[in-house]
Amino acid sequence: MPTDIIEDAVAENLVQDAAAAPSMHNAQPWTFRFHRTGQSLELRADPGRVMPSSDPDNRALHVGCGAALLNLRAAAAWRGLSPVVELLPDPSDPGLLAVLRFGPARGGEAEPELAGLHGAIADRRTSRHPFSDRPVPQAVREELAAEARQEGASLTFPAGWHLSFVLELIDEAELEAGYRGDPDEERWLRLQDAEPGAAAPAQDAQDGVQEESLGPMRDAGRAPVRDFARRHPVAGRGSADFERIPQLGIVSTREDGPRCWLGGGAAMERVLLGATRAGLATALATQALEQPNLRWMLRDPSGAEGPVQMVLRLGYGPPGPASPRRPVRDVLEILP
Ligand SMILES: Cc1cc2nc3c(=O)[nH]c(=O)nc-3n(C[C@H](O)[C@H](O)[C@H](O)COP(=O)(O)O)c2cc1C
Repeated sequence: MPTDIIEDAVAENLVQDAAAAPSMHNAQPWTFRFHRTGQSLELRADPGRVMPSSDPDNRALHVGCGAALLNLRAAAAWRGLSPVVELLPDPSDPGLLAVLRFGPARGGEAEPELAGLHGAIADRRTSRHPFSDRPVPQAVREELAAEARQEGASLTFPAGWHLSFVLELIDEAELEAGYRGDPDEERWLRLQDAEPGAAAPAQDAQDGVQEESLGPMRDAGRAPVRDFARRHPVAGRGSADFERIPQLGIVSTREDGPRCWLGGGAAMERVLLGATRAGLATALATQALEQPNLRWMLRDPSGAEGPVQMVLRLGYGPPGPASPRRPVRDVLEILP
C-alpha cells in the first residue's frame, strides 16, 4: 500500500517537472522548499524575478507559477501520489503561493487524468515559428476546453470579428512595446553577441529567451508573435510568412486576483500539455495583457467569460527549441 511519504530524490524529481513550466520571458519566478519531516513542498514566488514594467501586479508571475503547480500535481499523480494542495495558505505571506502536503492519511484527491498529461511536460515548448493552415479539429478543441474547465477556467476560440479585434490589440501592444522599449524584455533577452549593457549574453544562461528561440521575423501573416529582438539585429535570423488566420485560444477565469491567476496558469498549462499530447505546436502571446487598457478589451463582450488570463496560439508546426532552466539545486531548498 503506498504511504505517500516522499524522499528527497522524489521531491527533486517533482521540482524538475514543475520547473519545466512556461514562464514570462523564461524568468522562472519560483522557488521550492521541501520539509522532510513535515512532508510538505512549498511553491514560492521569487522576488528577484519580478517584472516591474510589464507585470507590476505580478499577474503573469502567478500565471507561470500556476503552470508550475499544475506540473507538480501531474508529476505527483504520475507517481501515484495524492498530496493535499492548498493555494495561498497564509494571508500574511503572499509570496507563499501553494503548499502540497504528502504523507499517509492526508486525504488528498487522486488525479489520475493528470497522470496522463505528465509525458507531455518534457515535450511542451513555445514555438515562435509559422504554423500551417491545417485546422485544429473540433474534437481536439473540445478536449482542450474540457482541460481548462477542470481548473475552473474556460478556453474559447475567437473567430470572425473577435479574432480580428484580438489580433489588432496584440499588434497595437507589440508596436507600442517596440516604440517605447520594454526593460523587462531587455533584461531577459539572451543574445550571443550582446552589445555592452544592452542585453545579457547567452553563454551559459539558465534562464531568459535565447537567440535560437526567437523564430524568424514576420514578413506576412497575422500570427501574434512577440519579437524579443526588436531592437537588436541578429545575424542570420531570417524572416518568414506566418499564418494568415492564426488559431488562438483564450483562457479566462470568473474573477481576477492571485487565486484566479494561479488557476488561470494551471488551466493554461493543462491546455498546453493536452495540445502537446495531441501533436500541436503551441505559443503564448501576452503583449496586450501587459497593458491594462488593452487587457480588458480582449474578452468577448457577447460571451459569459470573465477576465482574460492568457492568449495561446495553436496549430501544426515545428515545436521550437528547448529553453534552459535553472538547475533543481538552485530552486529547491531541502529542510530537515
Ligand atoms: C505569463 C506568460 C506570458 C508569456 N508571454 C509570452 C509572449 O507574449 N510571447 C511569447 O513568445 N512567449 C510568451 N510566453 C512564453 C515564454 O516566453 C516561454 O514559456 C519561456 O521562454 C520558456 O520557453 P518554453 O515555453 O519553450 O519552455 C509567456 C509565458 C508565460 C507563462
